[in-house]
Amino acid sequence: DWTMRAFREEAIEKIRAQVGKGRVICGLSGGVDSAVAAVLLHEAIGDQLTCVLVDHGLMRLAEAKKVVAMFRDSYNIPLVHVDASDTFLKALEGVDDPEVKRKTIGKLFIDVFEAEAKKVGGADFLAQGTLYPDVIESVSFTGGPSVTIKSHHNVGGLPARMNMKLVEPLRELFKDEVRALGRELGLPDMFVGRHPFPGPGLAIRVPGAITKEKLDILRLADEIYIEEIRRCGLYDDIWQAFAVLLPVKTVGVMGDGRTYEYVVGLRAVTSVDGMTADFYPFDMRFLGMVATRIINEVKGVNRVVYDVTSKPPGTIEWE
Ligand code: XMP
Repeated sequence: DWTMRAFREEAIEKIRAQVGKGRVICGLSGGVDSAVAAVLLHEAIGDQLTCVLVDHGLMRLAEAKKVVAMFRDSYNIPLVHVDASDTFLKALEGVDDPEVKRKTIGKLFIDVFEAEAKKVGGADFLAQGTLYPDVIESVSFTGGPSVTIKSHHNVGGLPARMNMKLVEPLRELFKDEVRALGRELGLPDMFVGRHPFPGPGLAIRVPGAITKEKLDILRLADEIYIEEIRRCGLYDDIWQAFAVLLPVKTVGVMGDGRTYEYVVGLRAVTSVDGMTADFYPFDMRFLGMVATRIINEVKGVNRVVYDVTSKPPGTIEWE
């Protein structure tokens, strides 16, 4: 892709000009944006870059492991992996309000990140995979000017607090351009094509109060859903797909017995940039097959529903 080759050269020059001999720290989330930013930065400034992966215990199944393997083993990028799941789950205990969840996670994330940054000797710059839509969306949103629909999780307060400057090499790009840049940088197709994953992670996919048990149930259901989407060749037609664990139990029947278990909601949407979205029109047989697998294989779930709401009026995430 010619445009991305040119962008890459230019971005590398800009990063070098901005950073000089300074040290840069970059938070990895497992998402495409932060990964592309990190690889680009590494190409520009090599070992002046340190990456930090804060595992908040709200990631998908085996996610942290996969990210660490990719960065350390395939790219040789210095990476600090912090397992802070206990700290996060404790802070989120009994918290059921979506905005309080988001703010709790955001604040704690900054605390943990700051502590880790200090441990590696500090840095002059903080790198972020901020995209153009993030820049716009934090100013206003589809709900009208100055209405906050959701407090987006980012490390906004961190640079000032730590006396760091921001490096945001993807600030002018849309998601599809970031993917093209990722491919240009040699990231695996399977990784570059990944659906977006929100900063607050599974916390906003468990409406109501979060428990470790609920997160574990959700991780398994989500894994089955995504596995089937991939197996049926639908993954790349969908902007984002995920499971949600509802805070309700319903009655079911299994063999001769009554069951009383959680409901899993399935979400899949098409979108260009996440600002608007249409629900994905799965074949009912596909949904039925996924429901059967989830109920048979995931203990604690006895009912599955599909979300047919577009954005607006729904948002993509449930919280
Ligand atoms: P909504 O739910 O607002 O989501 O329609 C639009 C897109 O943004 C993602 N999302 C987030 N991403 N931090 C992120 O990095 C967040 O706090 C956050 N909230 C939502 C969501 O997954 C979708 O792709």
